[in-house]
Amino acid sequence: MAGIASRRKAEELIHDGKVKVNGNVVTDLATKVFPQKDRVVLGNKTVSAEEHRVYLVLNKPKDYITTAYDERGRKTVFDLVRTRERIFPVGRLDRNTTGVLLFTNDGVLASCLMHPSHRITKTYRVTLETGIEEKHAAKIERGVYLDDGKTAAARLEILSGTKRRGVLLTIHEGRNRQVRRMFESLGYEVKHLERVEYGGITVQGVKRGGWRFLTGREVSSLQQQAGIEL
Ligand code: URA
Repeated sequence: MAGIASRRKAEELIHDGKVKVNGNVVTDLATKVFPQKDRVVLGNKTVSAEEHRVYLVLNKPKDYITTAYDERGRKTVFDLVRTRERIFPVGRLDRNTTGVLLFTNDGVLASCLMHPSHRITKTYRVTLETGIEEKHAAKIERGVYLDDGKTAAARLEILSGTKRRGVLLTIHEGRNRQVRRMFESLGYEVKHLERVEYGGITVQGVKRGGWRFLTGREVSSLQQQAGIEL
């Protein structure tokens, strides 16, 4: 966690007698350390468990799954983002969904962002197989009944020049496959799904498969939306 070595390499360093805790060499991997009071030294360098916080956004392409490891050897989002810090995605996107996927190692912010009570906005550009009827668009906005209950009020905008097949949908929840299920519940097939915004964060200027660090201002804005007092 201190960004010095992988877990395995850290074990080797301990085995090899390179690590001291409070002045004594420790070689027992089960030694417990309390970061607030114990002094851990590697060679002549003090190791701090205070982790550097990172925040980034990936423009996720199709065919990548949101997991760290796939038993079936499919491509994962971690094939695209590599950082020294151990980061994790804030929620998930389906394999075939593209667009905004946030990553961080800040567990507090991530869980606050994902908590439904904070009503973080997520906007999706949805391409449907057939044009959406007015009455169905209104239903989506009011809420539709899914296996896991009625969806909360949402905002739907029909994109001009798309024969009513292209819509922008803004929701505040983040249930599993929610957008696809909302349209499927009314008999529509979703052909493409792209998340274009999460709590105001977009991937404007980032190519598909690319990523960028968030700016300080973006991080503060997310913290504010997530109800984190600084
Ligand atoms: N809703 C979906 O159906 N899929 C996603 O990937 C994200 C939201």
